[in-house]
Amino acid sequence: MLSLRTVAAPARRQFAAAAPRAVFSVSFQNQRYYSSKVAKFTGTKDANGNYPVSIIEGDGIGPEISQSVKDIFAAAKAPISWEPVDVTPRLVDGKTTIPSETIESIQRNKVALKGPLATPIGKGHVSLNLTLRRTFNLFANLRPCRSIAGYKTPYDNVDTVLIRENTEGEYSGIEHVVVDGVVQSIKLITREASERVLRFAFQQAQEIGRKKVRVVHKATIMKMSDGLFLNVAKDIAKEYPDIEFDAELLDNTCLKMTTDPTPYNDKVLVMPNLYGDILSDMCAGLIGGLGLTPSGNIGDECSIFEAVHGSAPDIAGQGLANPTALLLSSMMMLRHMELTEYADRIEKATFATLAEGKSLTGDLGGKAKTHEYAAAIISKL
Ligand SMILES: NC(=O)c1ccc[n+]([C@@H]2O[C@H](COP(=O)([O-])OP(=O)(O)OC[C@H]3O[C@@H](n4cnc5c(N)ncnc54)[C@H](O)[C@@H]3O)[C@@H](O)[C@H]2O)c1
Repeated sequence: MLSLRTVAAPARRQFAAAAPRAVFSVSFQNQRYYSSKVAKFTGTKDANGNYPVSIIEGDGIGPEISQSVKDIFAAAKAPISWEPVDVTPRLVDGKTTIPSETIESIQRNKVALKGPLATPIGKGHVSLNLTLRRTFNLFANLRPCRSIAGYKTPYDNVDTVLIRENTEGEYSGIEHVVVDGVVQSIKLITREASERVLRFAFQQAQEIGRKKVRVVHKATIMKMSDGLFLNVAKDIAKEYPDIEFDAELLDNTCLKMTTDPTPYNDKVLVMPNLYGDILSDMCAGLIGGLGLTPSGNIGDECSIFEAVHGSAPDIAGQGLANPTALLLSSMMMLRHMELTEYADRIEKATFATLAEGKSLTGDLGGKAKTHEYAAAIISKL
């Protein structure tokens, strides 16, 4: 049988070669110290004093919900100028690529806001979401889930923050047929990618004022791969003595979270790719689904913030879409850009509108059109 080691080693080298070196680091007695914050926003203002932000409005309801965000930002006088970019896929040498102007815009601005993109099923181009993640090496997926007053869901007072490693693990795409009827899929975990996402998790905890970071893993079974992730976490934890660190088995986390999610409200959870993919949707389920869930795809050079829901083709163009998830994502973006006061103002107006319950969209049980809901938020700014 093909040895795991012979397959994984070249892939590991390939991955290491592709990994960015944007954050300056030095090694000292096998320990690495970073000179600056992981994934720090380094964009600059334009001549008008605004930060240019690339915006991918997306498909289906994308343009409608993007318009609401733009209207609310304009009313809040957020110092942002939008740079619309197109991600219609182009095939270059048989590979799906996004237009070079779009790549240049996001690289220049260091930040983008993205509406949902439709993915054809079983044919056509590969997922553009995956292409964007790979193109910009967006190594961490940040998914906060918070109960919203005014919208009754199975659990109250949920306030989880989950960080998923976004580039390797079970989604490395290294799969092959060993012999007919036997396939092998390789879960790739590297020290470098683990360090990066774990350091981001500790820094995120510091930034949002949480005192605990918890690694979710299955190192009892995947002793080498999850074992490496866990051991790296223990090393990184020493760099952050102000943050408490512990670890929990994935199955245990699922059981405890669905029994009572509130003990997780003081922690940042961080985990390998597949666990993060599943657990982040489970957390969204605790607050009523994906419709109100924002996310950030974080990279060293640039970051892309997006709603987690899809393009909702069934209601597109009818003014029925709820822009809250994209709006919450845009607030994460403002905080990433250190424009916190604008994020706080918009957040307060949004939560007040939702709690009041007079101008809700259909998915939340109301009758308001997308623009009426946005207008209600603007009136509270
Ligand atoms: N991040 C992304 O870009 C992303 C994520 C998921 C799905 N997709 C794509 O979106 C397309 C449609 O996927 P789907 O139908 O499985 O999921 P979907 O999220 O688009 O829709 C599921 C249901 O939720 C409703 N819904 C979703 N967002 C809403 C909103 N903001 N306001 C009100 N109602 C909303 C829809 O009307 C629909 O009934 C597919 O092409 C899929 O590949 C993209």
